[in-house]
Amino acid sequence: MPASNMSQLVSLCKRRGFIFQSADIYGGLKGAYDYGPLGAELKKNLKDAWWRAIVYERDDVEGLDGTIIGHQKMFQYSGHTETFNDPLVDCKACKNRMRADQMKDPSKCDSCGSTDITEPRDFNLMFKTHIGPVQNDASIGYLRPETAQHIFVNFKNVIDATNRKAPFGIAQQGRAFRNEIVARNFIFRVREFEQMELEFFVKPGDDETWHEYWLASRLQWWDDQGVPRDKIHVLDVPPEDLAHYSKRTYDLEFEFPHGVEELEGIANRTDYDLGNHSKNQDQLNITAKVHKNTDSNTKMALFDDQEKKWYVPYCIEPSAGVDRGVLAILTEAYTEENLEGGKSRIVLKLKKHLSPVKVAVIPLKKNHEGIVGKAMEIKNDLIKLGIGRILFENTGNVGKAYRRHDEVGTPLCVTVDFDSIEKEGAPVTVRDRDTMEQLSLFQADLNDYMLKYFG
Ligand code: GAP
Repeated sequence: MPASNMSQLVSLCKRRGFIFQSADIYGGLKGAYDYGPLGAELKKNLKDAWWRAIVYERDDVEGLDGTIIGHQKMFQYSGHTETFNDPLVDCKACKNRMRADQMKDPSKCDSCGSTDITEPRDFNLMFKTHIGPVQNDASIGYLRPETAQHIFVNFKNVIDATNRKAPFGIAQQGRAFRNEIVARNFIFRVREFEQMELEFFVKPGDDETWHEYWLASRLQWWDDQGVPRDKIHVLDVPPEDLAHYSKRTYDLEFEFPHGVEELEGIANRTDYDLGNHSKNQDQLNITAKVHKNTDSNTKMALFDDQEKKWYVPYCIEPSAGVDRGVLAILTEAYTEENLEGGKSRIVLKLKKHLSPVKVAVIPLKKNHEGIVGKAMEIKNDLIKLGIGRILFENTGNVGKAYRRHDEVGTPLCVTVDFDSIEKEGAPVTVRDRDTMEQLSLFQADLNDYMLKYFG
């Protein structure tokens, strides 16, 4: 059974060091969370899995790592300065602030039921700042609300550096910032988060086929991360709800503990973005309704060798939230099991490539020089395999160590006992998280076993 309510996950995340409220010693920063020792590993493993699937395992995608702070013209021509707004309503009675489009009843406050509420007014979600010491209109910059725009404005740089032709993509992971009116549901809707975005450029006309391709590919990838296909609802976003740049969007909605909501969006952004950022727009047959660009110094187009003309490629964009990915994975992995003798355990059934700790090495006695020395030797050997984090767990209580590692999703525990220092071949016990079965292995066979298991 996956987690049925958010408080189970919030409690586990705090207790075991996955996720903490940011600045909680000062009462907490709303809509901001810090990833602790295990959360940092889990998030890194998820991002690495995405990068491997999207960049390394393909021959048609390049990576990018753009700045977090963005040029005002970039967000002017992308449309964010003008249209990246949510309608905001304030309750005059209890001071509750709500998004008008998410209110249960648009005439009443969600919190106290008062009808004394303001008219909806547009609120821009971007964090604005000034770049450099002088604060005037020319120095305005923004923390990026999506990583995508850096990909679009670097399109020509990447083409020139790599000689790519369509179809090809540019992938990026990184922070994004949105001053959400209501940040809620743990790490689901926050003001600072991470995205994993691919902008995949194709010839106009090939866009619909590629859109279907990426939908299938992304569903399979989530399944490989432990978010099963039958828990994801594919919403073909109705035309009236589409973002201004989209011809068609599929939202992958997951059954989060608080409800079914978006995990990833896969949009057909047409030639809207490259068209917006291009010079000489009127010579390029751009199909989208773009902003007239009088500032760009670059033509954002590819040359069609057969038709002997320039064209602006269409873009298919699978855009996933890392934090929502972590939440979905934790939801699915969380399991409460009843054991024999009326006992129970919490076990996090993470896919092994995502587990923060791959192996815990546990000496049976914490003050026994021989056993502790042998355990440390084994830990140091396993580290060299490069399979991920190996933890030396010298608490002196094997049973408790097993429970703790079940709760944080460690796939294997290796216990070193008297046999390991007294018997020939130095046998150790390898315990499996999910089956709780124990296996005796000679020290000399351990490396091969681990390489095979995690390979
Ligand atoms: N470049 C397209 C784009 O940014 P989006 O649907 O606004 O599209 C993409 O965002 C993904 O980013 C979402 O599917 C979600 O996973 C994540 N995301 C968006 N806003 C978020 C927030 N406030 N907190 C956490 N994740 C968020």
